Amino acid sequence: MGAPDVSELQTFEHDVLVIGAGGAGLRAAIEASGRGMNTGLVCKSLLGKAHTVMAEGGMAAALGFTDARDNWKVHFRDTMRGGKFLNQWRMAELHAKEAPQRVKELEEWGAVFDRTDKGLIHQRNFGGHRYPRLAHVGDRTGLELIRTLQDHGVHQGIQVHMECTVLDLLKDGDRVVGALGYWRETGRFVLFKAKAVVLASGGVGKAWRVTSNSWEYTGDGLAMAYLAGAELMDLEFTQFHPTGMVWPPSVRGTLVTEGVRGDGGILKNSEGKRFMFGYIPERFAAETADTEEEANRWLKGDKAARRPPELLTRDVVARAINREVKDGRGSPHGGVFLDIASRLPAEQIKRKLPSMYHQFKELAEVDITTDPMEVGPTLHYHMGGIKVDHDSQMTTVPGLFAAGECAAGLHGANRLGGNSLSDLIVFGKRAGEYASEYAKENGAGKVNDDQVVACLRRATDFLNREEGPNPFVVQENLQAIMNDHVGIIREGAELSAGLEKLAEWKQEAEKAKAHSASQYNAGWHTALDLRNLAIAAESITRAALMREESRGAHTRSDFEGEQEEWGKYNIFVWRGDDGEMKIERRERPEPPKGLKEIGYAKIEDLESGKVGADVE
Ligand code: FUM
Repeated sequence: MGAPDVSELQTFEHDVLVIGAGGAGLRAAIEASGRGMNTGLVCKSLLGKAHTVMAEGGMAAALGFTDARDNWKVHFRDTMRGGKFLNQWRMAELHAKEAPQRVKELEEWGAVFDRTDKGLIHQRNFGGHRYPRLAHVGDRTGLELIRTLQDHGVHQGIQVHMECTVLDLLKDGDRVVGALGYWRETGRFVLFKAKAVVLASGGVGKAWRVTSNSWEYTGDGLAMAYLAGAELMDLEFTQFHPTGMVWPPSVRGTLVTEGVRGDGGILKNSEGKRFMFGYIPERFAAETADTEEEANRWLKGDKAARRPPELLTRDVVARAINREVKDGRGSPHGGVFLDIASRLPAEQIKRKLPSMYHQFKELAEVDITTDPMEVGPTLHYHMGGIKVDHDSQMTTVPGLFAAGECAAGLHGANRLGGNSLSDLIVFGKRAGEYASEYAKENGAGKVNDDQVVACLRRATDFLNREEGPNPFVVQENLQAIMNDHVGIIREGAELSAGLEKLAEWKQEAEKAKAHSASQYNAGWHTALDLRNLAIAAESITRAALMREESRGAHTRSDFEGEQEEWGKYNIFVWRGDDGEMKIERRERPEPPKGLKEIGYAKIEDLESGKVGADVE
């Protein structure tokens, strides 16, 4: 296939171009078009198909409807504690303050949340959240979020470009002025010119074998931002959700919502033991039930009782399951048992967790109202990503913004479940707002034809070369490396060996050969994604090797526990002028005194107003 003439490329011109149409992208596009911007929204697959729907259990917002003691300060504290205090504190503050407003706005736009007896939005318990805080729609909350935003956005006049994959960002000097992509159906290239670009392209789950992510999540935004000169941060923090399906093999990794545990589900090993009581970390001990009796009191609604250990943060629960399996106490298919059947009546299970009921019935032939589920950790989310300004979401490259999973900062070393959907709507809105301001203040830049031609050439090379490795096999090889070397428990020598293997693998990836023509060519699409996976995998592995401690979702068997010194640093990655990957740790900015006190406060001091009363 020859590279087309740049002047003949199909071209769209937008004030604001949003790349990625999950919750963050849709919310950014709504904001921009609502501000009068000509807004384009590019999605890699069909509109509505996004990893956002895998946040099933709910969106965290301190509405205080189910427990009136909740407020933004407690949410801020929980988020910082969950993130092991590596979070960008200002983002955690904005998130906790603005999430309630964004949830109410969704309701105004037609989202149908579950209700309390008084007709208020019902809020569910989730790991690491002090109070029931997750506004939800059964166990289909992400889906409802997408449905609502999609409906609102389309009626507002956003121009949607579906089944279009963006290959590269285009620059005029330092500034981003557009992007080049291709239509997945026809293989034809398409040029987008834009005054501002928002990346909202999600994570990089497809670098691992067992993941809740589907095929789209190949680190595209991360890699394109890196190549455009943006800084990345916190890459070592990859979240393994404790409960993915482990059986049958065809659906291994599919998410089993934390809502099951939030609604009372318990974890047991092959000996029938409720093992989480043995894994309560010091930091959470004062707030976590250490006996079955106390945990059951909590389930019955006793507000004075401490929370069950199944609702500890995801890093803790995933590691505990990993340990049980490694020590030979796993379920037949290499997981543990998640039991909701003995905790709730069948009709409540079907009402509160309808998707889980159907998922297990249809995919695993298990009736969760009578039998336990088999579950194990699955790569679900990347806390690391593109560094952004906390208020505006602009990256370190002018004209380029990022929001949602591809951006870093809010979640620090570990994200609390439910904080993702609220992240998307809080920072998606902010990205749309500030991208619009940028577009108003800056005219259209000039697209560099040479850059476009180089990009077209790279893309068509995979089709034009005579021979090379099969792209699907190459991707599987990467997944094997990441599974074996950069898993839940990491170790220095294994990470170093992983880096060596990645370097060899990269050469294989660059030589991949896609057969046949450019139309409907999934092999070619996979070959094109490999570069992005390579950048993501290498940067994650390098950062994991550099952080010589265990913190949040990053566990090193050779450096156990948190090291006080490392608590001061975030790790940054960028592309040097020589084209090589650079990495360094930088001291993180301290929060102002009042916020710091809230973050570290005992819950009773926060509740009584002894701490934080003077913070607005
Ligand atoms: O378990 C879940 O429903 C996932 C939620 C999330 O990742 O926020």
